[in-house]
Amino acid sequence: MYEHDVIVVGAGGAGLRAAVAADEAGADVALVSKLHPVRSHTGAAEGGINAALQEGDDWELHAYDTMKGSDYLGDAPAVETLAKDAPEDTIRLEHWGMPFSREEDGRVSQRPFGGLSYPRTTYAGAETGHHLLHVMYEQVVKRGIPVYDEWYVMDLATTDEDDPNDRECHGVVAYDVQSGKVEGFKANQGVVLATGGPGQAFDHTTNAVSCTGDGHAMAYRAGAPLEDMEFIQFHPTSLPSTGVLISEGVRGEGGILYNNKGERFMFEYGYANNDGELASRDVVARAELTEVNEGRGVNDEYVHLDMRHLGEERIMDRLENILHLAEDFEGVDGLVEPMPVKPGQHYAMGGIETDENGQTCIDGLYAAGECACVSVHGGNRLGGNALPELIVFGKRAGYHAAGKDLGEPQIKTGYGDDIENETDADLPVEPGASGLDQSGGVAADGGVTADTDGLLERTVEQTREHIDYLIEKDDGVQHAEIRSKLQNAMTDYVNVFRTEEGIKKALKIIRECREEYQDVYVDDPSRTFNTDLQQTIETRNLIDVAETIALGALVRNEFRGAHWRQENQIRDDENWLKHTLISWDDGKPSIFYRPVILEGEDKTYEPKVRSY
Ligand code: FUM
Repeated sequence: MYEHDVIVVGAGGAGLRAAVAADEAGADVALVSKLHPVRSHTGAAEGGINAALQEGDDWELHAYDTMKGSDYLGDAPAVETLAKDAPEDTIRLEHWGMPFSREEDGRVSQRPFGGLSYPRTTYAGAETGHHLLHVMYEQVVKRGIPVYDEWYVMDLATTDEDDPNDRECHGVVAYDVQSGKVEGFKANQGVVLATGGPGQAFDHTTNAVSCTGDGHAMAYRAGAPLEDMEFIQFHPTSLPSTGVLISEGVRGEGGILYNNKGERFMFEYGYANNDGELASRDVVARAELTEVNEGRGVNDEYVHLDMRHLGEERIMDRLENILHLAEDFEGVDGLVEPMPVKPGQHYAMGGIETDENGQTCIDGLYAAGECACVSVHGGNRLGGNALPELIVFGKRAGYHAAGKDLGEPQIKTGYGDDIENETDADLPVEPGASGLDQSGGVAADGGVTADTDGLLERTVEQTREHIDYLIEKDDGVQHAEIRSKLQNAMTDYVNVFRTEEGIKKALKIIRECREEYQDVYVDDPSRTFNTDLQQTIETRNLIDVAETIALGALVRNEFRGAHWRQENQIRDDENWLKHTLISWDDGKPSIFYRPVILEGEDKTYEPKVRSY
């Protein structure tokens, strides 16, 4: 068994920042990650980091834009913390060596991004996340923080008291991809989950194959609620054949969207008369699909993004990476022709419910970055707000897990007297593992109560049994079949435009996937570099997470941010200024609600009509 004060799971931007913060706070911290850190999906973040750095801008404007962008479902204490801390944390990155793009006079450049009232997106070409990962990893190496890379964390070692608020997390259990060993990692002070998003629950996604919602699923099964999972961001400019991201930076620099008639449809059809292509992402994604649905799409599938007029010099200076992506993945030369683009799943606004210090309702369990919901993004994240979230809340989670006092949080977690209990959801099938034989390790509940070492040992034993079971079973269904059925259902029915009927179909298919997973087996018998085994376990996580997305989408019968519902195409502030929480309760999901916090430090963010 390995032992550290703080264990950080995942080594993308949030995980690396959490580890550095825990180290700064004096803790013995280690990173455990299924990937080498610089292969993490943060590396695919192109556009930039929002931070109010310039004269004329300030954190209050950033907070206001973020609240409006969230469609008034962001919690003000988190939103204000993000906006206040982002400038200092961005400058710190610069001091650590981040090669930000610069103006002629040497100042760091900032560009416009969707939904921002000021050009506050700081960037390094169109590969900001790639540089951020390398800069942060350097800090980890410099500090001698141990990295257990290619160790796949499969389970949390949590106690199993009835009330999740009474549970404690004492470590994790991981599988060494290189040797097949299973080991416990005891955390004397805290575990920080920084495992990224669940984009692989969808078929057409900008997310890497590694984005399988592992942290979401582990925390959920251990009893921490998942919050606002229905809010999925579909980025307006992904390449049609692969889902590869074409940065919003293209539109930030002046790129224009056209339909098949050569019309600049964002203005022509009044989707966003002021901001046009730089309206917030949910608005642009709906506009593009409306164009396609009304027969004005190109090849009935996509629209065109044109950057030719920016000129080769500017494109090479600020968007060179985009030229390579369009050429390599679509065979299109962005200097001489427009690029085909369509909405693709990009980001999960929801995640593991945390407070401003990254803490979940389970003592010793933290989450930060895309796997967490603190909540700064509410119903829709603004482009350029993910990277500051990683560094601001990664830092806070790392500090707090290491014992640093960050003050009393204002955001509550878990069950409490401010929650509203389950509504009667009209579900088409029984969700969760109920009624299924759980011997295959599918979606079992949290852990066991025991002394800490005993708890770790028992969890290691359960994980080993689970792996043996999957490898020794010699026939059944392969995970790939289940995964692609799940992904297609989510893309067909829980996409940009959602209907009650479609979401119910998705839930039925998710149920079938869960049942089929009972018979899953791993064809590759080897114990080393067994990607079949790892992906089989990831598929289990995707089933749990997809179910929470679809359940949240079904119960939220209103249109807010990225969540559009055909039956009720208005934002319903009277009934829905509240977060959806789904917790795993005795083998099945249970749904409850907590009011959004609109009261900031000095003002209340009154919901207004959101137009761009
Ligand atoms: O479009 C982009 O470059 C993505 C940025 C983001 O998701 O924040």
